[in-house]
Amino acid sequence: MRRSPELNLTISRPESGDIPLYLQVVEAIEKAIRIGQIGIGQRVPAERTLSHLLRVSRTTVTAAYRELEARGLLRGFVGRGTLVVASPADASGEALSWSQRSSSMARQANYLSYVHHQPDVVPFELGWQDSSLYPTESLNALLRELTQTASSDLYAPPSPAGDRSLQQAIVQWLEARDIRVNADNVLITAGAQQGLNILARAFLSPGDVVLTERPTFMGALMAFRWAGAEVVGVPSDEAGLQSDALEDMLAWHRPKLIYVMPTFQNPTGAILSRERRQQVLDIAARYRVPIIESDLYGDIYFDQKPPSPLKAMDKLDAVIYQGSFSKIAAPSLRVGWLVVPKGALPALLAAKAFEDLHTSTLTQRLVARFLESRHLDRHLATMRAECRRRRDHLAALLHEHVPTLQFRPPAGGYYLWARLPPPLTTDDLLPAAAVRGVAIRGGSSHMPERGGEDYIRLCFASVDTRQITKGVQRLAAAVGDSWDRLQTNAQRRSPRVSVI
Ligand SMILES: Cc1ncc(COP(=O)(O)O)c(C=O)c1O
Repeated sequence: MRRSPELNLTISRPESGDIPLYLQVVEAIEKAIRIGQIGIGQRVPAERTLSHLLRVSRTTVTAAYRELEARGLLRGFVGRGTLVVASPADASGEALSWSQRSSSMARQANYLSYVHHQPDVVPFELGWQDSSLYPTESLNALLRELTQTASSDLYAPPSPAGDRSLQQAIVQWLEARDIRVNADNVLITAGAQQGLNILARAFLSPGDVVLTERPTFMGALMAFRWAGAEVVGVPSDEAGLQSDALEDMLAWHRPKLIYVMPTFQNPTGAILSRERRQQVLDIAARYRVPIIESDLYGDIYFDQKPPSPLKAMDKLDAVIYQGSFSKIAAPSLRVGWLVVPKGALPALLAAKAFEDLHTSTLTQRLVARFLESRHLDRHLATMRAECRRRRDHLAALLHEHVPTLQFRPPAGGYYLWARLPPPLTTDDLLPAAAVRGVAIRGGSSHMPERGGEDYIRLCFASVDTRQITKGVQRLAAAVGDSWDRLQTNAQRRSPRVSVI
């Protein structure tokens, strides 16, 4: 086997020599184009480089490239090298092939897409509450009332910043969380994901660095990377982001932004301690780096109320505070918000208007009514009790059936983050879990850099207690299967000793 790391080509030398080597190179490159590993417009390695990487003669690579040119897939350009100009499907006149045309970011973004499960799969890997936790009746009643009494202004375009009734309702809501702001500083977004996307558009240029906790939310990784930024992870532990490590990394990387989730972090569930909250603010202020504080889960606490958000302690207007109604009401509303210091508003409003002009007034007014009528406060009490029940059930069953998993039951939020017993990794466990009918999230999708294969994230908000029982049984079986496979492989690899 010969492998070119750049192109991810794997070529085997024929045993009998009946397929010429150059044709194998042709087939490997053709396949890489067909499955989208190299896109149209991308450069293939120089002949000399590829011959070195594949350890074949330069003549072999030259012959392969000539053949691919003859097939209409490659073309040499003076000063630019040899580029992919068509896919095998285009060259043969088949239906236009789109996969080769997607950008490199779009190819990486696949994992953010929705997973449609077979009905029997236990969906621990999701990031949503299940539908029994939506406040369906209250929202229906409020929606009826809203549309019965609405005047035509419901259908007129609002400002990109949002509908005034919702901005004001959020100001009241934040007051109870020790955050005092003006309605002009509340920017309504189409969910928190759009908040991240417009923050990236407004403040990041290619090559900028963003510091995040390690691990962090994968949608944030995508938003920052899509803007061309490099994301660097700051070590975190059970008390959240490590502030001394943050200081070193600020000095070294000089980042443009810091992105943190101080309360019930996704995926670890950690709470940044009160002491560290102040340290993080002080350190960031010393280096004059703004903080994006994400607080989507802070209201879903199981015991005590968590410490106040960083924004409540922010004297320098250095924190942009993010929230959303997706996790505390319903995800399809697509309503979130950013609390934005005055100086940061123009860039963010421009980015918001560029993305979608404004968020739908209908859903904004519905959410405003949901807040004003105190339905949300009542709904939160239900959410807390139910998520707590599920967390307890999950933790108890994991202790009993998968005792080798290491975890701390989170004090709030949606997720349980667990370490796999070495040498088990998600490479072994995820496929085994899929076969057993349980979907889990591998830790590496949360990592700014490499690593995370020794962790899994289980969402307990997406599954009721009956499904949790089924899911843990399946997970235990999958862990057993993976151990058996590891042991069989180790035995195969161990040298045989013959006793004479
Ligand atoms: C930390 C964090 N930010 C943003 C989002 C996306 O939220 P929304 O549904 O409001 O776009 C999620 C969803 O999982 C999240 O966990």
